[in-house]
Amino acid sequence: MEFRNLGETDLKVSVITFGAWAAGGWMWGGTERKESVGAIRASYDLGVTSIDTAPVYGQGTSEEIVGEAIKGLPRDKVQLLTKYGMRWNQTKGTLAFHSRDNDGNPIDIYKYAGKESIIQECEDSLRRLGTDYIDLYQIHWPDVTTPISETMEAVQRLIEQGKVLQAGVCNYDISQMREAEKGLKLASNQVPYSMVKRDIEEEVVPYCLENRKAILAYSPLERGLLTGKIKPGHQFAEGDHRANYKAFKPENIVGVNTFLEKIRPLAEEKNATLGQLVIRWTIEQPGITVALVGARNTDQAVQNAKAIEVKLSADEIAFINRQLEEVAVV
Ligand SMILES: NC(=O)c1ccc[n+]([C@@H]2O[C@H](COP(=O)([O-])OP(=O)(O)OC[C@H]3O[C@@H](n4cnc5c(N)ncnc54)[C@H](OP(=O)(O)O)[C@@H]3O)[C@@H](O)[C@H]2O)c1
Repeated sequence: MEFRNLGETDLKVSVITFGAWAAGGWMWGGTERKESVGAIRASYDLGVTSIDTAPVYGQGTSEEIVGEAIKGLPRDKVQLLTKYGMRWNQTKGTLAFHSRDNDGNPIDIYKYAGKESIIQECEDSLRRLGTDYIDLYQIHWPDVTTPISETMEAVQRLIEQGKVLQAGVCNYDISQMREAEKGLKLASNQVPYSMVKRDIEEEVVPYCLENRKAILAYSPLERGLLTGKIKPGHQFAEGDHRANYKAFKPENIVGVNTFLEKIRPLAEEKNATLGQLVIRWTIEQPGITVALVGARNTDQAVQNAKAIEVKLSADEIAFINRQLEEVAVV
């Protein structure tokens, strides 16, 4: 595995980090707890020591699964990245969307990052994860109802108490990052980034490079699409959000698969899968610190972790980039 520091902090994370959203089942058509625990353990055995989760992923389920998976591992050899600010059990802040929990019951998700709420959320996360500190604590989505200064003050308090080591944000634009940094030093921003979703290259990447902030690229496989396994007409399980996600519109699937066929010979030459080529490309992009990759079972987790063995030369990256010029972004 390769490890990188998060921005200017001394927190080192694995460049391939396990993303535990799908492992929690919610919005992905359910979870098989044992398989998810197995996937995390198999990743760890291959050097994926960092795990990203969130309370809202399965309404506690994902954090519990992560807690179970790391039980017995030396705590200082694992980096736990979790979040706050997406609430399902209160109604302050702004309603983000209506949803259903893993049992099919209706729930409403609110974006809320008020001070007392964060302090409470942190206690709940520590309990579910079975630990006494979180390595990176990130706001999940901006909360327009709470001043950023109040949110960061709460996180600063948690840092002073030793419950949190480093502060991060997700889905923040650069003005929100600047505002947050008036209250504390940010390690990172977690944002969507894949071969076919590159909006952050405009502002976030230059800002983070200039200010030495880490970028955690989420959904680098474009939620499975960039593995090449999804064909038009694909039937997703009930409750899987991808059935209505714009990246999975038939014309997009066709366009992305046409591109993937062009880079398939390169993958074959390297004895790699398309997904592995995609993950390596992602972590080679300027400003990208980590690829946060989701997996639902051991096979996927092992394949993703082994992407680290695939190497790409500057010419090969340039070749991929030329093919990408002809693909529509999602
Ligand atoms: N901060 C945020 O707002 C935010 C938002 C989204 C994600 N994230 C983070 O980023 C992580 C990763 O993103 P993501 O899970 O959305 O997308 P992703 O990593 O692009 O895709 C993960 C999905 O692709 C499929 N897959 C993975 N490896 C595969 C393999 N080797 N072969 C075939 N299929 C494979 C699996 O789904 P199937 O097997 O069901 O196809 C898996 O659940 C999340 O877990 C979460 O930690 C954060």
